Formats: sequence, structure tokens, C-alpha cells
Amino acid sequence: MKFPDIKTTLPGPNAAALIGVDRNHVSPSYTRMYPLVAEKAEGLWIHDPDGNTFLDFTAGIAVCATGHCHPHVVNAIKEQANKLLHMSGTDFYYTSQITLAEKLAHLAPGDGSNKVFFGNSGAEAVEAAFKLARWYTKRELNIAFFGAFHGRTMGALSLTASKTIQKKHYNPLIPGITHIPYAYCYRCPYNMSYPECGIGCVRWVEDTLFRTTMPPEEVAAIFVEPIQGEGGYIVPPPEFHRELQKVAKKYGILYVADEVQSGMGRTGKMFAMEHFGVVPDIMALAKGIASGMPLGAMVARSDIMVWEAGSHASTFGGNPISCRAALATIELLEAELMENAEIRGKYLMTGLRELQNSIECMGDVRGKGLMVGVELVKDRDTKERATDWRNEVIQKAFQKGLLLLGCGENTIRFSPALTVTAEEIDVCLSIFEETLREVAG
Ligand SMILES: Cc1ncc(COP(=O)(O)O)c(C=O)c1O
Repeated sequence: MKFPDIKTTLPGPNAAALIGVDRNHVSPSYTRMYPLVAEKAEGLWIHDPDGNTFLDFTAGIAVCATGHCHPHVVNAIKEQANKLLHMSGTDFYYTSQITLAEKLAHLAPGDGSNKVFFGNSGAEAVEAAFKLARWYTKRELNIAFFGAFHGRTMGALSLTASKTIQKKHYNPLIPGITHIPYAYCYRCPYNMSYPECGIGCVRWVEDTLFRTTMPPEEVAAIFVEPIQGEGGYIVPPPEFHRELQKVAKKYGILYVADEVQSGMGRTGKMFAMEHFGVVPDIMALAKGIASGMPLGAMVARSDIMVWEAGSHASTFGGNPISCRAALATIELLEAELMENAEIRGKYLMTGLRELQNSIECMGDVRGKGLMVGVELVKDRDTKERATDWRNEVIQKAFQKGLLLLGCGENTIRFSPALTVTAEEIDVCLSIFEETLREVAG
């Protein structure tokens, strides 16, 4: 069995020198939790410039779906780089963009009559969805959720409601967006319990919101993450999206699924909305779509994507290399990785639930496929958030060579590459257990 190999104190001398330069010349707005400097990587293993080797359960924030530098993806990138680096899909046609658009159109839930807009990131995919929803409906209001993360450009940021630091000093943002509570059953914002609540959070939209402050016929879209990501890896009840989409349909409101983090096989299905039996009107994709090459895609029904030439575009969006990397990624997902995500996800979840039996501070273990979160609490009855323990666990795990990230206020996220093996999960679980017992004893 392969283990992380930490040879120096962290950061080692070479990493420390680079971080010193970074401090002088790179934006201080980034949120580095610990001083990892990645030099090269393969699969789930990252090497730093001091010869230390780490086990990566972050996949570069749920991006390296096929593992770091998967040879099939790297070869596709090399091949494409030898042929065509750029021509701009805004003004010209090229094979890789057209082929990927056709593939995504057919992969998306529904009957395949979809069209694709290409950008470079998750925020751009959301931004495009935001603009298309307005363009198509000619309505000005929108609904999004507390805890949602949709990106940091001004439009996407207006929909985001994850942390105030992300919004501080940026107001006024785009008006007309109302944030409502997500179906966070572990801490129900309405103090109800599932299933007795009968999905009261959805009823509230029609019975209260639409009767008091928001005329439904003025609402363009509901923007929703199938599983809330940055907000804490929160899985809503099975009928939540179906019921909410019913309400949306009744009033001609578009259902926009932000699958930037949950999509592309991560949850064991190509798109997380498939777990909920919902066909969204518009979907935003990015992160795992091209195994680390920058790419965002907004997929919408053809009868919705009817905006005219010039109404939206991007010079770099749908870069030929990124599109080829996405096609290679999808080949791997379809061949075996989506299935691996489901199988290994269950294995990881079972391991975490076993730990939960004896480790009090593991308040909630939840997720689908390889989108798994563990919410740490000081006390299982009061559910007091153990944010300090969460942060300490992540720091200590790093010192032991395991890379983890947080999400929400007190949740640890496990979002490894979809290539993860049972042995790698065993190593992760043993370091996680040891760390958790040290921190929360
Ligand atoms: C659900 C979701 N939407 C949008 C974004 C923004 O993506 P990007 O950082 O590529 O702009 C993220 C990033 O974490 C995300 O998780």
C-alpha cells in the first residue's frame, strides 16, 4: 500500500522560498488553507519541490476528475496542441468545439435537443445562464439559495450567498435576486423534520414568497445546485428538486442547475440532477469537465437558446485544447470512472459512517458518489459547529500528507479524483481517523 511520504517540515525549504515570492507578487485574495506547493502529480499523488508526496483528496477543488495528468487526457492535449491552439469559437468554427457541443447536448438529461455555449470557468457558465434566462424570459427577477456558490464575477456573485467576505465592498450587485433557504435537513432553517415536513421549504416558495414579495410571473429563473457544494456538501431530500421544479414550471420559471461541482460523473451519474429525476432547462458545467484544462459550458434546451448573434460570446471560451481534453475526459468517465465514483463513493461513505459510530464530533456524514462531506460538531445534540476543529483537522492532515478541503462553516469535503482506489480510500480514512482523534479526542 502506498502512503504519503513527508521528508521535511512543511513547508520544506524550496516550497517556503516559492511561497515567499508568491506573497510578494500574487493576489492576497486567494484562500490557501495550508502551504502546499504542487510541482508535479499523477493520479491522486502530488509531489512538492522538496520531494514530499501527498495523497490528494481535493482533486484541485473537484476538478481533476480523471486524476492528475491522466495519460489519455495528456495525449489528447498534446495531439491537439500540435494541430490548433486557438481560433476563437466566437468568430470561427473548429472541430473539437463542435464535437464536444454535440456530445454534451446528447449527454445532458432530456431528449438531446440542446445547444451549448462555451466559456472558460464555472462563473462564466453561470453568467451565461443568467444572461440567457433573462434574454429568453424577458423577466428581471431571480431566485437563488442561501449557502449557494455560483462564482465570483459580478453576475455570478450576485447569485452567490455563501460567505459575506465574498461580497464585502462589492455592492451594489445585480438587483432582483432573492435568496431563500436550501433544503438543509440536518439544520432545517424552518425547524421542521424530514419527511414529516412534506418538503415545507418548497411549499414556502409558493405560499409565502410568491404571495408576498415576488410576483412569480416576473421571475426568470431559479438557480440551484443539485447538491450544495461550497455551502457544505448538502444533499437535499430526493423529492426536493422535483417539487421545486413543479412550482417553477407552473409559473414559466426556468430551472437552472449549477452542476459546476456536482456534474461530470462526480456523484456516480454524469449529472447530479439525474439522482433527483429532474431535467433542468439550463445547466452550468465546468470544474471536472476537462480534467484541469480551463473550460466552462452552459447547456440549454434548443428552444431556450435562441439569443441572436452578438448577444453573448467569449474569445477564449471553448478553447480547442480544453475541448479535446473534455472529450478525452468524457471517454474515461463513460468507460469506467463514473461507475468507479459510485462504487468508491459507497466505500468511502461506509468507512466514514463506521468512524462516526465511535467519533462523537462527526455530526453528519453525507454525499453522493465522490462528493462526500463530514460535518463536525462539538456536541451531537446541540449540533454546535466545530469550525475550529474542522480547520485543525485539515491542517494536521496536511502535515501527515493528506490533502483535504473544507466547505460550509464546519464541514470537511472529500472530493478525490474519480480514479480513486479502495487502497487510497483506506489510507485517507486511517489518516483522517488518527487526525480527528488527536484534534477532538
Ligand atoms: C457550484 C459552483 N458553481 C460555480 C463555481 C465557480 O466556478 P469557477 O471558480 O470556475 O468560476 C463553483 C466553484 O467552486 C461552484 O462550486
